[in-house]
Amino acid sequence: MAVASIQQVLDGKVAVGETVTVQGWVRTRRDSKAGLSFINLSDGSGFAPIQIVAPALLANYESEVKRLSAGCAVRATGAVAASEGQGQAYELQAETIEVVGWVEDPETYPIQPKAHSLEFLREVAHLRPRTNLFGAVSRIRHCMAQAIHRFFHEQGFYWINTPIISTSDAEGAGQMFRISTLDMMNLPRTAKGEVDFSKDFFGKEAFLTVSGQLNVEAYCLALSKVYTFGPTFRAENSHTTRHLAEFWMIEPEIAFADLNDDAALAEAFLKYIFKAVLDERMDDLTFLAERVEKTAISKLEAFINAPFERIEYGDAITLLQKSGQKFDYPVEWGLDLQTEHERWLTEQHVGRPVVVANYPEHIKAFYMRLNDDGRTVAAMDVLAPGIGEIIGGSQREERLDVLDARMRQFGLDPAHYQWYRDFRRYGSVPHAGFGLGFERLVVYVCGLQNIRDAIPYPRAPGLATF
Ligand code: 4AD
Repeated sequence: MAVASIQQVLDGKVAVGETVTVQGWVRTRRDSKAGLSFINLSDGSGFAPIQIVAPALLANYESEVKRLSAGCAVRATGAVAASEGQGQAYELQAETIEVVGWVEDPETYPIQPKAHSLEFLREVAHLRPRTNLFGAVSRIRHCMAQAIHRFFHEQGFYWINTPIISTSDAEGAGQMFRISTLDMMNLPRTAKGEVDFSKDFFGKEAFLTVSGQLNVEAYCLALSKVYTFGPTFRAENSHTTRHLAEFWMIEPEIAFADLNDDAALAEAFLKYIFKAVLDERMDDLTFLAERVEKTAISKLEAFINAPFERIEYGDAITLLQKSGQKFDYPVEWGLDLQTEHERWLTEQHVGRPVVVANYPEHIKAFYMRLNDDGRTVAAMDVLAPGIGEIIGGSQREERLDVLDARMRQFGLDPAHYQWYRDFRRYGSVPHAGFGLGFERLVVYVCGLQNIRDAIPYPRAPGLATF
C-alpha cells in the first residue's frame, strides 16, 4: 500500500478514489451521532492536518478509535475523497486505522488542542514542535536555511565550514565560552601560579567560536566569494528577547569588494530569502498572521519592494538629534545607536530598510577598515522596520600596518593573530562581508516576540534544558 505524506494528499497528488496510507499524530477527534468519527491527523509535512473519516464498521472502532486522543500516533489507510466540509479539498475515508502509539495519560498530555502560552511552551521545548505554531516556525526556518544556501550557490559562492572550536577571539570582545579538559578541582599551574593551559587538550586555551569571519576570510582570499553558516556562541550575560548564547550565523565574504558591494549583497540576499518564504510557506505565514502578527505577510511584501536607503552614521546622529523625539539613551557622535534609535530611523524617518554606514572607529571591531578621515571605519548595519539592526558588516582592513595598530589599540596582541596577518602579507586585497544572526531573521519573518522561540533548543543565561 502506497504511503503518502498528508501534504501530498491535500495537494491533490493522490487521485480521488485511490487507496493510500497516511501516518501521523492525532490533533482532535470528534464523534458524530451518525456513528462516524472525524480525526484530524497531522504529520507536519505542511501546516494543515487531514480529516480522517472513521466509520463505526471498523473492527477496532469501539475498542480503539473512540479512545484516540490528542498526540496518539496513527496509521490510517483508505480512499481519498473530495471533502464536503469547508477548508480542505480532500479527506480520507478510512478502511483501517492502526494505533501505532498511545498517549499514556491523555489528561496530563501537555499539548492540548488549544492555544498555549509561549512561556509555557518554552518549558516543554521537547514537545512544542507538535503545536501549530512551532510546526510553522520549524518549516519556515527550514525554508529560509535552504533559500540561504540556494542564494549563495546561484551567485557563485562556496560554503566553507569554519571551526566551532577556536583559539582566537574573532570579535575581540571577550565573550567566549572556554572549553577545557582540565580537572577544575586540580588545575595544573605554572611556576608563576597561572593555569597551565599547555597541559590542556589542545596545548593552549580553546573556546567556542564567536564568529567564523576570520576563518572564512582565509577562503575568501583564495575562492573570492564564500560564506559560512553555522552555530556561534556568545557568553554575554544578556537576558533579552534578542540574545541567545548559541545562535546560527550566516557570514558571506567577498574579495575585491568594498562597503557598497557589501550593502548591495545584503539587500539582494534579504530580499531573496523573504521571497522564498512568501513563495513556499504561505500556509504557515497565513497562520502566523492570524495567531501572532497581523502584518506577517504584508511586511515581507513591502520589504521586497522597497529599495534600501543608505545613510551615513554622522547624518543619522544629526537626524536623531533633530527628531524632537525623546529617547532613553543619549544621541551623540561617538556613541553606538541603540535599538530605539535604529527603529526611529527605519520606521519613523525612512519607512523602509536602512543601511547606516561609516561608524566611529572606536565603537567597532578591530578588523574594520579605517576610513581616510581617521575617525570612522567602513562598517555598516542594516536596520529593518519592526526590529532594528538585523545585519552587521564591514570592509576589512587590508593594510597590515593599519591592522596591527588597530589590534594594539584594542589590546590585542598581533602575535596571536599571525595567521590572520598573513592574508595582509601575501596578496592582500580589499574585501568585505557581513554577519546575520539567523534566529533574528526567523523572529522577524515569523513575527515572534522572543528569540527563544526561533530556535529548537534555546540556550541563554541560566537556560540549557534538554
Ligand atoms: O555584529 P556581530 O557581532 O558581527 C560579527 O560577528 C561579525 N564577525 C560578522 C561579520 O562581519 N562576518 O554579529 C553579527 C550578527 C548580528 O547582527 C546579530 O544579527 C547576530 O549576529 N547576533 C546575535 N544573535 C543572537 N544572539 C546573540 N547573542 C547575537 N549576537 C549577535
